[in-house]
Amino acid sequence: MKVRTLDDFDLAGKTIYLRVDMNCPIDPLTGDIIGTKRIEEVAETLHTMKDSKVVLVSHQGRVGNSDYIGMNKHAVVLERMLNRKVKYVQDVIGVAAHNTIKDLEDGDILLLDNLRLCAEENYEFTPHNAAKTIMVQRLAKLFDLCVLDSFPSAHRSHPSIVGFPQVMPACAGRIAEREIRNLNEIMTVAKAPHVVVLGGAKVPDRLEAIRLLIQNGRADHILLTGVIGNVFMRAQGRIRYPLGIKFEDDVVRKAHRLIGEYPDVFSTPVDVAVRENDTRLEMDVRKLVEGEQIVDVGPKTVEHYSKIISSAGTVFISGPAGNFEMEGFDVGTRDLLRAVSKSMATTIVSGGHLTAALKKYGMDAHINHISTAGGALVLYLTGAKLPMIQALESASERLSTA
Ligand code: 3PG
Repeated sequence: MKVRTLDDFDLAGKTIYLRVDMNCPIDPLTGDIIGTKRIEEVAETLHTMKDSKVVLVSHQGRVGNSDYIGMNKHAVVLERMLNRKVKYVQDVIGVAAHNTIKDLEDGDILLLDNLRLCAEENYEFTPHNAAKTIMVQRLAKLFDLCVLDSFPSAHRSHPSIVGFPQVMPACAGRIAEREIRNLNEIMTVAKAPHVVVLGGAKVPDRLEAIRLLIQNGRADHILLTGVIGNVFMRAQGRIRYPLGIKFEDDVVRKAHRLIGEYPDVFSTPVDVAVRENDTRLEMDVRKLVEGEQIVDVGPKTVEHYSKIISSAGTVFISGPAGNFEMEGFDVGTRDLLRAVSKSMATTIVSGGHLTAALKKYGMDAHINHISTAGGALVLYLTGAKLPMIQALESASERLSTA
C-alpha cells in the first residue's frame, strides 16, 4: 500500500481528527437512523485509539433532503455499541467545538455535528484550495494527526477529506485500509464477463460512473433496477409518463445517449412490483400507468438477471432493487443477492442498504468483498483515482521526503 496506516504512528496522547462516514439511512417520517452498519464499522478503528483524544467528524445526508439531520442520534448509537462515553457537541467549526476539543482528555471520544452544516463542505475543492478553507484553517491547528476512514465518501473532494491531509500528517483508518487492500487484491483476480447490477436512487452519480465502467472494460452487462432502472426504461420509451424525480430531463437524456452508444450492454426490468393499498402487485412493464409507484422488480426480471449473473466472471452489485425496507417489497433485492451469493464469480456487494440486506438474509459468508461504500466503490471499479486515496498517497510521500 502506498498510504500510511495507523501502525505507522504512535497514537497515545495525541489529538486525532478522524474523518468517518456515518451517513446512514434515515426514516423520512421519524428522522430515526434505520441502518447502523456504518456506525458499527467506526467502532473497529476506535478500538486502536484507546489512549488518544479522538474527534470524529462525518456528514449525514445532503442539504435539503430528508436524511439531512444532526449527528446527536449517531452519538447515542455509537455510545451504545462501544459501551463507552461518546461526547457530542452541536457545532462544527465554532467556539463550542473549539473549546470542547481543547478540554478533551486521553481516552475521550467526541463527535462534532454534521459537517455539511458548514457551507464549504458542500463544494468540491482542489486539495490546495481545500487547505485554505475556513474549516481547515480553524480546526487543523487543534490536531496532531488526520485519520481518513470515510471510504464511502472517498470520491468527494470536500475540505474534510482532501484539505486536512495537506497541512498535517495523515494516514488511513482501519476501514479505509481494509477496503483499499481487499479491493486491490480483488481487481487482480477479477475476470470477464463483468456483470454490474445497479439499483438505488443516486442517478446522476451512477450515470457518470456507468460510462467509465464500460469504457474501462469493467462492465460487459449492466442489469438495472431501482430508480436508475426506471430512468432507463423511460429513456427506452417503455415508461411513458414522467417519473417525478430530480433532474429528470437531464438524466433521461443521458441514459438515452448511453443506450444509443452501447445498445448491447443494458438490461432493464421486464416486470415490476407496484404498491397499491399497501399491497404488492406484480405487473408487466407495458401495463404500467401514470401514478403507479414502482417499488420492486418482478420475478421474470429476477429470473432473467439471475441467468446472466450465473455465467459471470465478476459480479458487482450496488443499490437496492426497490424499497427493500418495506415489508413485502424486498423480494427483488433478496433474490438478486441470492443469485449473486450462489454465483461462482468473484463477487462484490456495495452500499449501506445491500450490506444490511445481506446480513438480514444471512448471505454474507458467500461474498468475496462486502463494502458499505456505494458511489465511491463504483468509481473505484472504473479505475478512477479517488480523491481520498490520492490525498493519503500525497500525505505519505510528503512524510517520506520530510
Ligand atoms: C454515500 O453514502 O455514498 C456517501 O456517504 C457519500 O454521500 P454523498 O453522495 O451525499 O456525497
